[in-house]
Amino acid sequence: MSDNLYKDIGGEEVLNRVHRRFYESLFEDAWLGKFFTGKNPDVLVMKQTKFMMSCMGGPDEYKWETPAIAHMHMNISNELYDLRQSILKQCILEEGIAEELAERWLEVDNSFRRALVKNSVEDCVTRVQGQIPVDVQKPANYPWPKDNDK
Ligand code: HEM
Repeated sequence: MSDNLYKDIGGEEVLNRVHRRFYESLFEDAWLGKFFTGKNPDVLVMKQTKFMMSCMGGPDEYKWETPAIAHMHMNISNELYDLRQSILKQCILEEGIAEELAERWLEVDNSFRRALVKNSVEDCVTRVQGQIPVDVQKPANYPWPKDNDK
């Protein structure tokens, strides 16, 4: 273990593998998946990988929007953020990464919570006239949180 999470995790190849699994799950999810309608999963995997590389002490190759700007029109609640993190953790572990590294990864991921979470749809900011906030209600009978997640 070092102070460089990027190296400890195994570098870009491992981040890419986890993110491929992660976005496959996100796109299939009955709640989170609605945010991704019409988006290209390959591009999102690549951007998420480059973004996390730079956050984890790896090469700084991310050149797109900051998460705060990219998500400003999305009504993301703490519950939704928790759900995304639980899916991310599962994908990290399924790729054979140690629990301790998964926790460090989630800590980095969690550092964006305050920038992304909104109290309500009123807090969303749209960028062009005619755009409406992305506000997805939790589907009825959505199977989360499970009792052991609480
Ligand atoms: C529940 C929480 C989240 C949801 C619903 C969500 C959803 C999305 C969606 C729909 C996009 C595509 C935007 C577009 O192409 O128009 C996107 C892009 C992106 N997201 Fe998230 N996201 C969440 C959390 C996060 C977090 C925590 C991070 C960082 C750790 C992150 C990093 C990114 C990055 C880097 C992009 C690419 C931005 C760009 O294209 O300029 N997202 N997200």
